[in-house]
Amino acid sequence: MSIARTAASVERPWWEPGVIYQIYPRSFQDTNEDGVGDLEGIRRRLDHIAQLGVDAIWLSPIFPSPMADFGYDVSDYCGVDPLFGDMAAFDRLLGDVHARGLKLLLDFVPNHTSTRHPWFVESSASRDSPKRDWYFWREGAADGGPPNNWTSDMGGSAWAYDAATGQYFLHTFLKEQADLNWRNPAVRAAMTEVLNFWFDRGVDGFRIDVLWHCIKAQGLPDNPLNPHFLPERGEKFRVLQQHSANQPEIHELAHAFRAIADAYGDRLLVGEICLPVDQLMAYYGGADAPGVHLPFNFQLFDAPWDARIISHIIEDYEAALPEGGWPNWVLGSHDAPRIAGRLGEAQARVAAVLLLTLRGTPTLYQGDELGIGRVAITADQVRDPQDLRQPGLGLGRDGARTPMAWDASPHAGFSTCEPWLPLHADWKTRNVADQGADPRSMLALYRDLLALRRREPALAFGDIRIMSSSEQVLQYERRYGDTQLIVALNFSASPSDVSLQDGDGDELLLSTHGPHGFEGQLRPDEAVILTRTSR
Ligand code: NOJ
Repeated sequence: MSIARTAASVERPWWEPGVIYQIYPRSFQDTNEDGVGDLEGIRRRLDHIAQLGVDAIWLSPIFPSPMADFGYDVSDYCGVDPLFGDMAAFDRLLGDVHARGLKLLLDFVPNHTSTRHPWFVESSASRDSPKRDWYFWREGAADGGPPNNWTSDMGGSAWAYDAATGQYFLHTFLKEQADLNWRNPAVRAAMTEVLNFWFDRGVDGFRIDVLWHCIKAQGLPDNPLNPHFLPERGEKFRVLQQHSANQPEIHELAHAFRAIADAYGDRLLVGEICLPVDQLMAYYGGADAPGVHLPFNFQLFDAPWDARIISHIIEDYEAALPEGGWPNWVLGSHDAPRIAGRLGEAQARVAAVLLLTLRGTPTLYQGDELGIGRVAITADQVRDPQDLRQPGLGLGRDGARTPMAWDASPHAGFSTCEPWLPLHADWKTRNVADQGADPRSMLALYRDLLALRRREPALAFGDIRIMSSSEQVLQYERRYGDTQLIVALNFSASPSDVSLQDGDGDELLLSTHGPHGFEGQLRPDEAVILTRTSR
């Protein structure tokens, strides 16, 4: 039950006490009347970000793209898509972000390019193209079908046939997203230039898209069939991705990315890696060959909402961290169902307290600070290619990508015209202006939590120790020097009879239910942070 990680007294990099805020640029703020957000919109909304109290923004891809996968199909890594603005708009945004003492992370998409990227266009021009080996081109199987049994995460085979050259190319995602061959040194050299380009421009780091997919097993052998495959979970799970992902050589590549970042000092690399904890940890690398600073920890996305299970998740994760590995937690993203949709508003407040009081860097997703819940997307509104390719399985990500709501004006102040995806139904009251004026709102809770986290080094740096857990209540302490904070979360809608106050020295710092009425026991759906004076 007891885990304790020691807070070192050495100077910490900015991201350790920092909080990352993910912006999905299409849906943050539109300024050019096309119903899609843009960079100038983000710049104009920096007040919200500063007032919220986060430290860094991560922008989902802003690069030129045919938008088959809404920017995760890049056709030029060193530009800005006109939909979002231009390089001057980017530089203005970066300047203003830095002027406010904030950091800016971009999304690096190394596993695949758009099939309209000039590299792929050249590669597909002929079998003799000098760039043929930049991608995976293979003959069909004996029966003329795909070269192996790998499936695309978006459904169907991971291979697309190119009639012009009579070969197949590999695409782990859409057929418009061709996988790059990272074993080819020329690909590495070209992508090194990309990272240098943005670092030279002043970006503070990258989130690296599907890092664990970047290296494939030599010879591309068939993957083992998944004995537990359930078609309703999607094609991605038909085979086990034993040879198509998480190969040993990926760690050398992660280290190479890290070396580029380290050459600039103080830059952050966050890796998107969806693997079980024991395998995730390898992405931190070793002392001699560090990998990414933060391999994203997505366990809160689908963990059963049960205090005891969450307590085991925390303990196991903390225990698995390598020496010097800094933890992190993610609560929402453009790929996952909204937390308030999954748990309901009352428990989404408890989840906010959890996210912002655990040890490690939290990443929060735009709109979760308003408690946006499940947004009903009608069949004609579906935009997500994953949903369009595998309809009816509930795999759609549009519900998490709907626009921010700023105020009660038409289109919620997001745009002057119809947004590309609908707003949440209750946007007239669930918006930044309304919630900013209401001290009991979700937004006020997030602001309070972030302010407290900034004030209390115990929340940013303190050790964590689980004190108790039942199905209903999770209680842990964060300790830093003489400061002891107690966090107690009620995961249920019933009052808890666990007595929290340990004497006169306890002081309530924050409750999801506001500053009054706490009498030492958690009310339904309540989470509290107390300070305990050592006796
Ligand atoms: C992960 C991204 O978060 C997701 O949105 C995208 O579809 C895939 N990677 C492919 O790039």
